[in-house]
Order: sequence, then C-alpha cells, then structure tokens
Amino acid sequence: MERLKGRDLLSLADLSAEEVIYLLHLANDMKLGNASPRISKVLGLLFQKASTRTRVSFSVAMYQLGGQVIDLNPESTQVSRGEPLEDTARVLDRYLDVLAIRTFKQTDLETIADHARIPVINALTDLEHPCQVLADLLTAQSSFGELAGLTLTYLGDGNNIAHSLLIGCALVGVNVRVSTPPDYAPLPAIVKQAQAIAKEQTEVTITTDPKAAAEGAQVLYTDVWASMGQESEAGDRIPIFQPYQVNEDLLAVADARAIVLHCLPAHRGEEITDGVIEGAQSRVWEQAENRLHVQKALLASILG
Ligand code: CP
Ligand code: NVA
Repeated sequence: MERLKGRDLLSLADLSAEEVIYLLHLANDMKLGNASPRISKVLGLLFQKASTRTRVSFSVAMYQLGGQVIDLNPESTQVSRGEPLEDTARVLDRYLDVLAIRTFKQTDLETIADHARIPVINALTDLEHPCQVLADLLTAQSSFGELAGLTLTYLGDGNNIAHSLLIGCALVGVNVRVSTPPDYAPLPAIVKQAQAIAKEQTEVTITTDPKAAAEGAQVLYTDVWASMGQESEAGDRIPIFQPYQVNEDLLAVADARAIVLHCLPAHRGEEITDGVIEGAQSRVWEQAENRLHVQKALLASILG
C-alpha cells in the first residue's frame, strides 16, 4: 500500500482500519508463501529493554526480505553514556533505512521519530506494543475467519498490551473488554481514544469484574502482572491480580470456541495456569509466529 511508505508506527492509532486490514492480508499471504517481496535495506534495532520475540522476529523478517539488521544495543553505543537521543537519531538516520525502538517512555520514542527522517517503529514502550497487537489480530482472524463482531477480553494489568489491544480492536470492529484490579486500569486517555475510533456497534468496556468480562468472549488474553521496569512491584501485585488469572474456571464462562492468547513471556501459575497455556484452546505459539509475518508485511509496506 503506497500510503504506508515512509511512515512511522509509534502507536497503533497511526494506522487506519483499512491499513490494518491490508497488513493482516499481506502478512497472511506471506505466511502462506503467496507473497515474497524483496528489499535491500538496513534495519536498526535500538532496544533498551530485554526481548526475545521482537528482536528475533524483526531480524528474521528483514533477512527474509533480503535486507540487513544492525543490533544497536544501548550498552555498546553512546546512548548509555548520555548522548542525546536527538543527536543519535540524526546520525542513525544517515546510515539506516528504518529503525525499531524498544524503550520506556513514549516521549523518547517520539523524540527519536521527530529527529529521524527514516521510518521509526515502536517495538514496545510503556505505553504501547503495536506490532504485538497486529500479530494478535492476525491470530484471531486465522481462528475465526472474520474479526468484526468478535469479543476479545483482556485480563490483568492495564499496560502497554491493554492499550494497543484497545486501539487495535476498536479499529477493526472487535468488541474489547479490559478487566483489571481497580488501581490498574488502562489510561483514561487511551480508553477515550479507543472509544472515539470504535465504530458505533463496537463496544469498549472497562471493568473490574473478570467473570463478567470473560463471559461469552471468543478471545481471552493476558499478560504479565508486572511489566519490564516494574520488577520491584511483582511480589505485591500477585495477591491483587489473583482474581484476574486466566484459568480453567474463567475459560469455562467464555465462548465454547474461545481461544487463549498471551504475548509472552508467561509466568505459569500467575497470570495464566499451565493447563490453559498448554491446553487445546491456547494459540500462543501461532501468535508468537505471527509476529514474524506481520512485521515482515509492515517492513515491506513502509520500505516500499
Ligand atoms: N511479546 C514480546 O514482545 O516478546 P519479547 O519481549 O520477547 O520481544
Ligand atoms: N507488558 C509486558 C509485555 C512484554 C512483551 C512488558 O512491557 O514487559
């Protein structure tokens, strides 16, 4: 799609509904081996947090497209020694064709994007994880055929994943329910944004009641209770989040055909039971694989 060429992806809301649907379609074609565009470009990965899936799937996506990857570990660049992000961005811009960033503050990502003329992709911030949610939508689409009209319930922390799910589901007409403990709701500004994007018949629900949220849903989704950067809160959070665990009892109130998703890494016995993640309704491994296909579609589209 010509319109995606040269564009940043800082938030899932940077894409229109048509663009998301186009990317999912292209990703599916790539997955089936029906599309194999070639590009000869260089992707930089500037990751200030740990990553298994995002780092490897972005790298493999770029290699499969015919491009190259440079891993810009902040510890081995001048970033860790305090070189301003503005300067780093203006220099990397002159070497690379596209930059994927994993960092804490969304404003740091925005600063880099503002100072780099090349496309900048959000590979996870504290606010959002848009590439993950593109893969999640592809997984739901593969399971149910049609996205519009499905209901996805996210249980746990109102974090980056919850935020991108709110926006992504609203864009493609998936009813989205986010159920969190009272003090861990998603940011009101993101909820408002999702409500503004949602089509008239698409519901955006925020609730503290996990059972009510799971009832009849086609997709149950969870994520860690303490995200990267919140490790010191992990112990205190366990009893608070316990009622939001995705377990056999909760799965029993969902749609009988329901699938279970988790962006991974998972903490079995905390946000999800071993029985559910390893059970017949889990689609987490296909979901992880889909990171590769959607990011390949995204890179091919923004690099033209
Ligand atoms: N889901 C995800 O982004 O995984 P990584 O942190 O391993 O990249
Ligand atoms: N919410 C998690 C997602 C990891 C992929 C985190 O930010 O650590």
